[in-house]
Amino acid sequence: MLNRPADPVEDVKSAEIQRLIADMIETMEDAGGAGLAAPQVHVPLRIVIFHAPSARNDGAAVPLTVLINPVVQPLDERMQVGYEGCLSLPGLTGAVPRYVNVRYSGLDRDGAVVDRVAEGFHARVVQHECDHLDGVLYPSRMDGLDTFGFVEEVRRAMVEQKE
Ligand code: NI
Repeated sequence: MLNRPADPVEDVKSAEIQRLIADMIETMEDAGGAGLAAPQVHVPLRIVIFHAPSARNDGAAVPLTVLINPVVQPLDERMQVGYEGCLSLPGLTGAVPRYVNVRYSGLDRDGAVVDRVAEGFHARVVQHECDHLDGVLYPSRMDGLDTFGFVEEVRRAMVEQKE
């Protein structure tokens, strides 16, 4: 389920989809994650959810956002490397280059259009979650696997490098 493209949602307002979104929100909150994609709960549909506290996003909180059938476009070529983790790869982390500035659009849980620009952490979360819809996990976006490993090991290696 994690490695094939997910299908578009046809009827956003169906009870089934509304229930799925509620389940996803609960799962993300239980896990303490910044985002979740439907394929991660074994439903191959194009739905992602995410949020970001202001402390992680340069002071600008991103409210809980439900994005259905999303489209993400980079606004320029600028990329930035940052550490990511994923509920599908528990305990692991790695440094991943992502576009700094993106525009994304899709539908919210009521079927209304969402159309936003995002930068930094916000843009990173959106790219990470939308990758799940195409079966892409962050290690395959990394420039190499030197920074990929268990959080404790990577942290230790970073400290040793500085010494
Ligand atoms: Ni993930």
